[in-house]
Amino acid sequence: AQLPQLLRTMPKAELHMHIEGSLEPELIFALAQRNGVTLPYDSVQALRSAYAFTDLQSFLDIYYAGASVLLHEQDFYDMAMAYLERAAADHVVRAELFFDPQTHTERGVPIEVVILGLSRACHDAQARWGISAALILSFLRHLSEEAAFETLEAALPYRAHFIGIGLDSSELGNPPEKFERVFARCKALGFHLVAHAGEEGPPAYVWSALNALQVERIDHGVQSEKDVELMQRLAQTRMPLTVCPLSNQKLCVFPDLREHNLPRLLAAGLNVTVNSDDPAYFGGYVNDNYLQVFAATGMGAAQAYQLARNSLEASFASPAQQAAWV
Ligand code: ADE
Ligand code: ZN
Repeated sequence: AQLPQLLRTMPKAELHMHIEGSLEPELIFALAQRNGVTLPYDSVQALRSAYAFTDLQSFLDIYYAGASVLLHEQDFYDMAMAYLERAAADHVVRAELFFDPQTHTERGVPIEVVILGLSRACHDAQARWGISAALILSFLRHLSEEAAFETLEAALPYRAHFIGIGLDSSELGNPPEKFERVFARCKALGFHLVAHAGEEGPPAYVWSALNALQVERIDHGVQSEKDVELMQRLAQTRMPLTVCPLSNQKLCVFPDLREHNLPRLLAAGLNVTVNSDDPAYFGGYVNDNYLQVFAATGMGAAQAYQLARNSLEASFASPAQQAAWV
């Protein structure tokens, strides 16, 4: 009974969540109504019952459809405030939110509408709930590097509103090196760099995220276990891995949470963190991820403290700010 209480209340950072993945079916329907958008589902219940995924792509198709209700700055603000209130209740003291501008600009939503709505929520959430929040702009890897460059250019007038650059969407067939030049440009501009790698893709993609993109964290990275040399490199450099247990279960990466390799990655000395990825779609927010992966794998208090400390130290908050949390 003590371990769940510890997991719920310990201060933690959430470093891998897509804000569009926090849109609950109820909010999707409310925004659809507010904006006059017609959804291909009759009810909240019908939408929710479509959340039966077989792999990453089967999820992404529904996730991009859900995001189609977001049109105005207030929509992005309301979505992010709903998530940040929920995160603060989970004792998240620091949240770094991915957002996918191309999902919105491709529908004609101006990038400043996206960025300014989300940024205002980060600011207001800090004032209201004391949570520190920051934004990471993610390129969609199923689109071209040229499209990523165009997105970066469009976002640069608002560069004060985001701290880093990420890479997400369909991994297989879209290796990190496809984005080597745009990531080099982002590094020169002073942004923090992260990328999804080794979620469904092979260890080779984790290697190229490290070597070609020069990332500071690997998002997911769970497939690294298949490569002994890679495991050594990750352990020796204390490279953070932002692992998402319920996401991995729902997307059939580890269909049975009891088989999840998080305890083994941790035991091998890797800098593992626990995160929710897309909490509205995968059945839980960050504390649900801690509670369920601990219950399934039998980890204990020592691992709980380690994972929480890892998350705070792997965040992009200032060292002074981190010291206040650890
Ligand atoms: N976009 C939202 N969630 C994602 C995930 N788990 N992998 C890749 N792209 C995503
Ligand atoms: Zn993700």
